[in-house]
Amino acid sequence: MTYVVLENCIKCKYMDCVEVCPVDCFYAGDNMLVIHPEECIDCGVCEPECPADAIVPDSDSLATPEWLKLNAQYARVWPNITVKGTPPADAGDWDGVEGKLADFSPEPHRG
Ligand code: SF4
Ligand code: F3S
Repeated sequence: MTYVVLENCIKCKYMDCVEVCPVDCFYAGDNMLVIHPEECIDCGVCEPECPADAIVPDSDSLATPEWLKLNAQYARVWPNITVKGTPPADAGDWDGVEGKLADFSPEPHRG
């Protein structure tokens, strides 16, 4: 079991989630975060912290194989993140916008 970050994180990247995770299992890309499925202890604390409702348990129907795979894949290559940074200035404009997977960046988070 693990929790999974979904499409609505893309370009919102609020990062409230990283502050509450007891095992520091979030990894940061340029415009979204993912959860490492083998490090997550399934505590559920992060889910209500996300202002974009972008985190669900893997038992949720929104946690499709595509998103499970993306989280596992990028958790291996992106840097760990434990402290909330500054969200994008236009994060609110992207909250709830559909089709953001097309905007997904595979680049790692910088600074
Ligand atoms: Fe971290 Fe718990 Fe969220 Fe897993 S469910 S990512 S352990 S806060
Ligand atoms: Fe993304 Fe929500 Fe965390 S928008 S960075 S999953 S608080």
